[in-house]
Amino acid sequence: MAIIRDHRYFDVSFVPEKLLHRDDALKALFAHFEPCLKDPTFSTCGIVQGPFGVGRTSLTKFFGREIERKAEELSSAVKYVHVPSRDIISRLKYVHVSCWAVRSFHGIMLEVIKAINPSFPERGYSPEELIRHLDRELKEKNMHVIVCLDDADYLINACGAYPFYELSRFGEYAKESRLSVITVIRDPKSLSKLDDPTLSTLKRWHIYLKPYTSSQLADILMERAKRGLRKGSYTDEVIRYIADKAETDGQGAARYAIMVLYEAALKAEMDGCNMIYPNHVRLAAFEYDKLWPIEEVKEKMKNATLHEKLLLLAIARYMKNRPEACYAPTGEIKEAYHVVCEEFGQKPQGHTRLWQMLRELSHLGLIRKKKARYGRGMTSLISLEFPPEDVETFLVEELRGK
Ligand SMILES: Nc1ncnc2c1ncn2[C@@H]1O[C@H](COP(=O)(O)OP(=O)(O)OP(=O)(O)O)[C@@H](O)[C@H]1O
Ligand SMILES: [Mg+2]
Repeated sequence: MAIIRDHRYFDVSFVPEKLLHRDDALKALFAHFEPCLKDPTFSTCGIVQGPFGVGRTSLTKFFGREIERKAEELSSAVKYVHVPSRDIISRLKYVHVSCWAVRSFHGIMLEVIKAINPSFPERGYSPEELIRHLDRELKEKNMHVIVCLDDADYLINACGAYPFYELSRFGEYAKESRLSVITVIRDPKSLSKLDDPTLSTLKRWHIYLKPYTSSQLADILMERAKRGLRKGSYTDEVIRYIADKAETDGQGAARYAIMVLYEAALKAEMDGCNMIYPNHVRLAAFEYDKLWPIEEVKEKMKNATLHEKLLLLAIARYMKNRPEACYAPTGEIKEAYHVVCEEFGQKPQGHTRLWQMLRELSHLGLIRKKKARYGRGMTSLISLEFPPEDVETFLVEELRGK
């Protein structure tokens, strides 16, 4: 039975209808741009910064969609009450430029002009002519344009300060500031390549997007799963498990979380399962991470002590026998460890040593430990980071000295 209901919800360019946990950043953007709605000759420039996959593109595109909608509302309200609206903006345009794809000032200007006038010819104009043309169009149409330079790190690397300098001077040339700029960057060090006057114009304000926490990621994933996956094909536990992994291994990136969910769903479909199991998540995360070559995992297991190997084998067997479990309570892992010790003729280590070994295996990145509420107190839950079948096969061979 199909698990994925609609692949579009997992597309890289998909902008969600609801932007979760970014209310503060959205409010800040609206506050900075509110004046442009009323006065098209008011401009502002600022920076949106954040690490990989934390919603920089979604935030700015979402904001662009909303501010254009607000501007439409405003201008239709004005028409409705028949107020002459020369001073009220007739249209506000948000233009999202991917600087990964467009790496020149000329290219940016063309994108902006074509967004306002789609029939504008692609060729035959110098950057200076494009500036003059844009100025004329904006004045004639009484418009304001917000240019968002997404992934501006690429543009800085390709062209240095030049495009930013030109854009920051647009208001001076036009004698009216009908152009605002949002510069979206990943690495704050990129900005050091800009000269001080340009930077001070571009950076009147700065919004930093923090990595998401596990519970925020769980909300984002849940929303995406509701839309993109068949009901009943995932559990809350699996969603939270992906979110836990994304908070640590994925450094709080929603992109990582969503890709792992999608890959896990594909794997579950390929396996002919009617739902996503934790093992699909482990495999998906392992493959996505590429940072973790299989040899490195084997090397870590090989170098573990005898009892760490026995304990890891116990965890792998526990997980293998309960394919629906993302985590196991420590008490049950302890029992499974005693069974494995008996099988290999070893005396089990005591409680304190067991804890030390769990900590060590977690430091090695082979297992994941998580605190959870248990009755009125707290308990520790354990999960295996890699597919249990592979871990078991490898460790049994190791322990039998093959
Ligand atoms: N707050 C959020 N609510 C819902 N979905 C989100 C949110 N933040 C990010 N996403 C989703 O996570 C994925 C990555 O987000 P986005 O592309 O906006 O991040 P980015 O910071 O621009 O990433 P990159 O480093 O790849 O440029 C997208 O699928 C996006 O829809
Ligand atoms: Mg992006």
